[in-house]
Amino acid sequence: MKKGAGMARVELRGIVKEYGAVRVIHGIDLDIAEGEFCVFVGPSGCGKSTLLRMIAGLEEISGGDLLIGGDRVNALRAAERGLAMVFQTYALYPHMTVRQNLAFGLENIRMPKDQIARRVAEAARMLKLEPYLDRRPKALSGGQRQRVAIGRAVVREPRVFLFDEPLSNLDAELRVSMRGEIATLHRRIGNTMIYVTHDQVEAMTMADKIVVMRDGRIEQAGAPIELYNRPANTFVAGFIGSPRMNFLPCTVTARDAEGITLQDAQGRALRAAVDGRTLAEGETVELGIRPEHMHPDPGGYPVEVENVEQLGGESYLYVRTEGGIALTAHLSGQTGLSRGGRAHLAIRPEFAHVFRRDGAALPRLRLGELAVGEEG
Ligand SMILES: Nc1ncnc2c1ncn2[C@@H]1O[C@H](COP(=O)(O)OP(=O)(O)OP(=O)(O)O)[C@@H](O)[C@H]1O
Ligand SMILES: [Mg+2]
Repeated sequence: MKKGAGMARVELRGIVKEYGAVRVIHGIDLDIAEGEFCVFVGPSGCGKSTLLRMIAGLEEISGGDLLIGGDRVNALRAAERGLAMVFQTYALYPHMTVRQNLAFGLENIRMPKDQIARRVAEAARMLKLEPYLDRRPKALSGGQRQRVAIGRAVVREPRVFLFDEPLSNLDAELRVSMRGEIATLHRRIGNTMIYVTHDQVEAMTMADKIVVMRDGRIEQAGAPIELYNRPANTFVAGFIGSPRMNFLPCTVTARDAEGITLQDAQGRALRAAVDGRTLAEGETVELGIRPEHMHPDPGGYPVEVENVEQLGGESYLYVRTEGGIALTAHLSGQTGLSRGGRAHLAIRPEFAHVFRRDGAALPRLRLGELAVGEEG
């Protein structure tokens, strides 16, 4: 397959899904560019599969417009949309060889034999399936079977690839290597891909664009690092990043050009480099700080150490504030701290996020994630 062969833009305009009287997708607007790798993430039941299946044509669209390559395709059947889907359960034909499994869909549409042979050979080479072409699925490992399932999509040369949690049946190690293979596949053929997962690490590592969903709505869509640096609300902040962001309830005591001053329930002052112009003094907010952005410092915030996990190259501290709030700190390297000890953790203002009571994030003035010298 030539790079970029038949890639297409996918546009969703006010897409709604209703099952009887129950609305599960509430009007989704989304643009997926040609050749983009777009990942849908979100907790179980948020509507990822439903949305993907509507794009695929496996599920009727209750409202709104779906455009593929600029054409409205709502009324087109799945086979007419030029897409190919890879599922979590790969459902290969057990009595057929790998070669027959790959060729089957093309034989069904009566493609000439030499063209089928060429496409199968190309897919097998790309997915490293050449040694297994004459085997039956039961003689393959889980990862090899999933590659065959992906191969069946590849040979169809679709305009858009759709994946629904294709790796969730594989063990952790295999998931990591298949993640790399799918990313390589995307680089080589350059097709538009839409990939569903509830694994935020998969989303972070594979996506050009992540779409975070919750209860049938988009909470935020953007590049992985954009979502990490500027989560729009507490939901996205808590979902993207592992271990998850820490949250500390505070009240606003002062605002200035550099940011805001906050006070926690014990009256300790904290600073955050966010635009607080829309805040009122005395307003309740949540300070958000990622585990990797806290480190021991004598001048820091006092905590009690509840547990320590030393992994050699990095360590995790599970601590509690004087107000009883549990926080996690992720340190690089090893730590001399131990369970039951006291510690002080530095929280630098430029690493802090601040969220209003309704969950919405305040704009950050400086980004602590940038290397020193790059900051504006
Ligand atoms: N056939 C159906 N009839 C009624 N409700 C349905 C039907 N299929 C799905 N739903 C509901 O639609 C919502 C979204 O389901 P969906 O399968 O899209 O979630 P998901 O994000 O893919 O979850 P998971 O991560 O568990 O796969 C859920 O509340 C589900 O119960
Ligand atoms: Mg699903």
